Amino acid sequence: MTHATRPRHKSAPTREELYRTALAEYVSDGSENARGKAYDLGRAFLKDGVSLVELAAMHHSALCEALRSGPGKAATSDVLSRAAEFLSESLSSYEMAHRGFQEAVGALRRMNEVLEEEIKRIAYAVHDEAGQLLVAVHLALADVAREAPDSRWRIETINDLLKKVEVQLRQFSHELRPTILDDLGLVPAIRSLAGAVSKRSNLPIRVSAEIPKRLSSSAEVAVYRVVQEALTNAVKHAQARSASVEILEQDSTVHCIIQDDGVGFSPESVNQKGERKGLGLLAMQERLNAIGGIIQFESAPMRGTTIRLSLRRP
Ligand SMILES: Nc1ncnc2c1ncn2[C@@H]1O[C@H](COP(=O)(O)OP(=O)(O)O)[C@@H](O)[C@H]1O
Ligand SMILES: [Mg+2]
Repeated sequence: MTHATRPRHKSAPTREELYRTALAEYVSDGSENARGKAYDLGRAFLKDGVSLVELAAMHHSALCEALRSGPGKAATSDVLSRAAEFLSESLSSYEMAHRGFQEAVGALRRMNEVLEEEIKRIAYAVHDEAGQLLVAVHLALADVAREAPDSRWRIETINDLLKKVEVQLRQFSHELRPTILDDLGLVPAIRSLAGAVSKRSNLPIRVSAEIPKRLSSSAEVAVYRVVQEALTNAVKHAQARSASVEILEQDSTVHCIIQDDGVGFSPESVNQKGERKGLGLLAMQERLNAIGGIIQFESAPMRGTTIRLSLRRP
């Protein structure tokens, strides 16, 4: 470019240029100051959302340039080892972010375990302790019926109501934490859940589920909770005519697909600030994150909803 055509205002250097210049500086003098620039650049790149693949490409082209422009006094092997030091320094923010992410996932997993323990305790209290109290009420009512025979028919009515309460409490406790999930595993628990939801809501739910062996307890609970929320949403929001749950395993990866043919929604809008209506979809995502699985929501207005999750066996 001749002097006459050079732009009057030099534009800010690109990321690639910054990286190339800083790398060249470190390669030539190996100073602490130059190494510090690698750290600062890495931190800025992470903040700007530069991916590791992009950073690797940037490094590769900067290194090629450093080698092309001649190692100067330094031998090629010195250029290569300084370039490697520079790269690892620029990656340190990524490393820290990755560790932070792993810790967050660990915390999430522990939180879910505590939550599940608490749910188990409540389910047990509802089933056993409330059940015991109801037995005591039945006995007390039987005494009253003996002492006041005229009120017998009214007491019968109360007894019938109490029996209904009992059935509902048992059902409630079962849905909170189905013993079938711990005893028999995911597939029977999902069949039982779909049956109960279908009966209560009149929504036909087709289940096709088969996996060769059981998953870890935390994975079974996570998948169960996601299917439970997805079916609840299908009943509550979708106005669907039917729904389905499919669970299958391929190459040591378990897939679960929950579908409904209802009104659908736009998943992006649910995530927009201030627009969040509930926590169900977010909780599904976090449950899967905590066990290292992947979840995808596919839905559009009037197009029904499909939720796909997949989980690799360890
Ligand atoms: N299967 C579905 N069909 C239609 N809309 C849905 C479906 N699932 C979720 N939604 C929409 O996404 C929103 C957020 O769902 P969710 O996070 O489970 O919260 P909540 O069920 O408490 O509203 C719902 O309020 C609804 O508008
Ligand atoms: Mg919901």
